[in-house]
Amino acid sequence: MSRIAIVPGDGIGAEVIAEGVRVLQHLAPDLALEHFDLGADRYLRDGATLPDDVFVRWRDEFDAIYLGALGDPRVPSNVHAKDILLGSRFRLDLFINQRPIKLLDARRSVLKDKGPQDIDIMVFRENTEDLYTGMGGTFKEGTPDEVAQEVCIATRKGVERIVRAAFAYAAERGLSRVCMSDKSNAMRHTGGLWQRTFREVAAEYPGIEASHLYVDVLAMELVRAPERFQVIVTSNLFGDIITDLGAILQGGIGLACSGNIHPGRVSLFEPVHGSAPDITGKGIANPLAAVLTAGMMLEFLGRPDDHARIQAAVRGCLLADEVTPELGGTLSTRAVGDALLARL
Ligand code: NAD
Ligand code: IPM
Ligand code: MN
Repeated sequence: MSRIAIVPGDGIGAEVIAEGVRVLQHLAPDLALEHFDLGADRYLRDGATLPDDVFVRWRDEFDAIYLGALGDPRVPSNVHAKDILLGSRFRLDLFINQRPIKLLDARRSVLKDKGPQDIDIMVFRENTEDLYTGMGGTFKEGTPDEVAQEVCIATRKGVERIVRAAFAYAAERGLSRVCMSDKSNAMRHTGGLWQRTFREVAAEYPGIEASHLYVDVLAMELVRAPERFQVIVTSNLFGDIITDLGAILQGGIGLACSGNIHPGRVSLFEPVHGSAPDITGKGIANPLAAVLTAGMMLEFLGRPDDHARIQAAVRGCLLADEVTPELGGTLSTRAVGDALLARL
């Protein structure tokens, strides 16, 4: 029996996770689900972000964490999101941020003449380094001489393990292309490490074509010719940006799912989107990203058939226009959940 920690979180996070939980309970009633009250409300109430005892329980007692989103206008510092989301990524060492870009319904394509056969990519975003560590500082804050510094970190270990994960994924699935993307023309030090590491690991996979694009060109190519890509591996910040671009290629941010993974350890699954304060409380958030995320999590827990069933049901909803308003539908978050459960 797998144990799942549920963190609905802020804004639409709670609204969409409720639908994902219904799907989990339907498909896998044997899962042990435990809800955790963490997020902006909790932080504003008692100052807690990610308490140590919760962290230790997640690490030692759970198989996966299912998270909605964190971010609330009442907490401008975003400190709770940094502690909970980035804190989990760093402290649980969830070094793989795996983000599929998969178009399920041809009519949702925003690209002329590109269909599901053209848009099926897995992004491996490095998840523990780069510009995300918080290293750096501010000097003479608030004065005309203010200096701010954000340190970009790449380690041999960190780069090598994400590159290896990308190649292993491609090899396991019989895929033939891995593209690494960086900005080594401008960022010589970290870029140099990425370049050398990528070449060395690629040499172990002679059957896989290893290519490289600077990240600015990758952004262009993802729109011009997404069919070029099967697996993309990149650093933390570039992966963040590229996967929001990827979200729209699959029909919208309300359809993009992700896993923050350390193979063999507790891992965290969340939709790519945020807490969407602009639509919170209206009952119109698209729950399909959260539902697809639940599917990814079930696959991670050794249930690939359940993942496939969820993907098929989501595709069914899209084809039948059983969708929320941002996709041109008329259904509420809850009604999409109902439609999906009916299909399952
Ligand atoms: P966002 O993803 O929350 O919203 C961007 C736009 O997409 C908005 O117009 C929103 O209404 C729309 N949108 C997002 N998800 C949707 C859904 N499921 N259905 C329909 N429409 C949807 O990005 P943002 O506005 O930049 O961020 C809001 C807050 O969320 C910020 O505090 C940010 O830091 C946080 N955030 C958290 C996570 C996370 O916890 N994983 C991810 C991204 C952003
Ligand atoms: C994401 C989010 C986070 C990130 C933010 C909320 C820190 O945008 O998960 O994509 O940049 O990783
Ligand atoms: Mn993001």
